[in-house]
Amino acid sequence: MKNIYLVGFMGSGKSTVGKILAEKLKMRFTDIDQLIEKEEGKAIPQIFKEKGEKYFRELEKKMLEKIQEEKNLVVSTGGGLGADRENMEKMKKNGLVVWLDVSFEEILKRCEGDQNRPLLNQPVEKIKKLYDKRIPIYKLAHIHIKTDNKKPEEIAEEIIRNAD
Ligand code: S3P
Repeated sequence: MKNIYLVGFMGSGKSTVGKILAEKLKMRFTDIDQLIEKEEGKAIPQIFKEKGEKYFRELEKKMLEKIQEEKNLVVSTGGGLGADRENMEKMKKNGLVVWLDVSFEEILKRCEGDQNRPLLNQPVEKIKKLYDKRIPIYKLAHIHIKTDNKKPEEIAEEIIRNAD
């Protein structure tokens, strides 16, 4: 089975849904952020702080290339990875790309007080700008799933129905 890539903004449920989806499809689940943290031996906020965002984006690109050598994976990607046109094209060539679409209001609710995501640690207007800028790239995904008010289990089922 070809890899399935979950893309979407921070807090869209990529990891939670990804684990359920992998179980249902008998595929392996992997999370690019976790792979990066493991390889660097540091948490993401620390990588951002010590090396900067640009360095982190390079790590994401390298990790994406590395995992593309494997098959049968459900991949949870960081919110910025799927918002990069080049990464998006690579994922689309390699597998099925699913956009978990979540409203901005819902993100604010879900991520209130979040200390693990450096890009949420800025004024709401700036986060909204980032959100608006990313949508046109996420839209390039093969499948679009609206996730507000849906349970992760339902979302996984919807992905399976749409993937057929
Ligand atoms: C980021 C999203 C995070 C993580 C990093 C940057 C982003 O992943 O990769 O903090 O640029 O949107 P999640 O989308 O899993 O929160």
